[in-house]
Amino acid sequence: MGNLLELSNIGKNYGEDVILSDISFTLDRGTAVAISGHSGGGKTTLLSIMGLLQRATSGKVLVDGLDIDRLNSNKLAKLRGQYLGFVFQRARLINSLTALENVMAPAWFIRNGENVEQQARDLLERFGMSHRLHHKPQQLSLGQLRRVSLARALLLKPPILLADEPTNDLDPVLAGEVAECLLTARASGTGVVIVTHDAGLASQADQIFRLEEGKLHSAIC
Ligand SMILES: Nc1ncnc2c1ncn2[C@@H]1O[C@H](COP(=O)(O)OP(=O)(O)O)[C@@H](O)[C@H]1O
Ligand SMILES: [Mg+2]
Repeated sequence: MGNLLELSNIGKNYGEDVILSDISFTLDRGTAVAISGHSGGGKTTLLSIMGLLQRATSGKVLVDGLDIDRLNSNKLAKLRGQYLGFVFQRARLINSLTALENVMAPAWFIRNGENVEQQARDLLERFGMSHRLHHKPQQLSLGQLRRVSLARALLLKPPILLADEPTNDLDPVLAGEVAECLLTARASGTGVVIVTHDAGLASQADQIFRLEEGKLHSAIC
C-alpha cells in the first residue's frame, strides 16, 4: 500500500509566472494537514494539483502509489471519483437541485440503494442548515453553499478530502462544527488537507505548512 497522496518536486507555472516550485509532500491515511499562506500565493493551485484537477508543470503526483502520468483520462477520472472529495472555495452545486438533493446526489449513485437521506439531513442539521434543506443554490449565501458542499463531500467518505478555506465567512460556532467534521473524518482513515487562515483550525491538524514564494515550509504545530 503506497502513501495516500505523494507529490514530488512539483512545479507549476502560468506562462512566465512561477506559482509553485519544488514542492514535495506526503499525505498519510488518517491524518490532517493544514496549509496557510498569502492570498494569491498558490494554495488553490496546489490543492487542484493534489485533486488531479490540473496537471503540474513538473514533478510527480502519486495516488495510493499510482503515478497519474501513466493513466489515460478515463482512468484518471475514475481515480478521482474513487479517492477524492473536494470542498471548493466557490461551491459547485447543481442549480436545479435543493440543498438536500445536492448533498445526496453523488452518494446516491455510489452507495446504490443505501439510505443516504438521513445521513445527509444529519450533516446539514449539524451545519445549521435544517431550515434551508429545500432551498436551491441561488437562494443560499456563500457560507451556506460551502456548508452544503462540505456535507456532500463528507457523505461520500472519500479517502482524500481537500478543503479550500472551509471556515471562511462562518461564525465561530459553525466554523467549529465544520472543523470538527473535517478532523473527525480522520477516524475512518481519510487524509485531510485544509487550506485555511483559521489559526484555531490549523492548530488541530497533525501538521501545519505555509506556502511562501512558491515553496511549502513546515511550520511548528
Ligand atoms: N488559470 C490561471 N491562469 C493564470 N494565472 C492563474 C490561474 N489560476 C491562478 N492564477 C494565478 O496564480 C496565482 C495563485 O493563485 P491561487 O492558487 O488561486 O492562490 P491562493 O489560493 O493562494 O490565493 C495568482 O497570482 C493567480 O492570479
Ligand atoms: Mg485560494
